[in-house]
Amino acid sequence: MKTSAELIQEAKKNAALEAVKHVKDHFIVGLGSGTTVAFAIEALGKRAKEENIKIMGIPSSYQTFQLAVQHGIQITTLDEHPVIDITIDGADQVTPELHLIKGMGAALLREKIVATASKYNIIIVDESKRVKVLGENNQTVPIEILPFALALVERKIASLGGTSIIREGKGKLGPIITDNGNMIIDVNFGLIRKPKEMAFKVKNIPGVIETGFFVDLTDLVYIATENKIEKLEK
Ligand code: 5RP
Repeated sequence: MKTSAELIQEAKKNAALEAVKHVKDHFIVGLGSGTTVAFAIEALGKRAKEENIKIMGIPSSYQTFQLAVQHGIQITTLDEHPVIDITIDGADQVTPELHLIKGMGAALLREKIVATASKYNIIIVDESKRVKVLGENNQTVPIEILPFALALVERKIASLGGTSIIREGKGKLGPIITDNGNMIIDVNFGLIRKPKEMAFKVKNIPGVIETGFFVDLTDLVYIATENKIEKLEK
């Protein structure tokens, strides 16, 4: 019998394989980050090779860059291709309105840039990421901040009702430093019934570089279990 961890891996792979079907020849593909996207990168590399289609990827993190290279996906940049045809990314929470929390992999800044540059955004998740309201199950919202502004940002976040924790590294003492040289704080806001408003208020704090609220950015979500895939559309 399969363990629950194995079933989750299968679900992630199923969602990824479904998303990759949307990619067409000559597409510029935004590549999100995380364990679910890793399955999509592998499948994209396979498609490019087996079907001889030409695609180019714009990675949202060093992790994704390395994976894409490993799977033979040609890399390009936003400077060369400012408009992306499709982006495939994962998420930490997804609501029925297609609002997301992202950033548990600390790649949220580039992920949001890639998503915003993209004509079509697909999110791939396993069933455990589905919620009614963002912030359920004590899910925190990752926020990328300029280290210089930490004390100010924490104070302002507290005035919005949030409790912040600096994200610590694994295999490194002290705070993690993102691919962009910044810090991440994980903020518990409780249930977030108005994510658009909250995202706006947080983003407005000087020193906040980007928030893990992804609102009105997603076109399609594939939510998978090990044996079924559900499609949520805008
Ligand atoms: C990274 C992200 C990831 O997409 C998110 O954390 C989901 O990751 P996983 O697919 O590993 O569960 O936002 O910044």
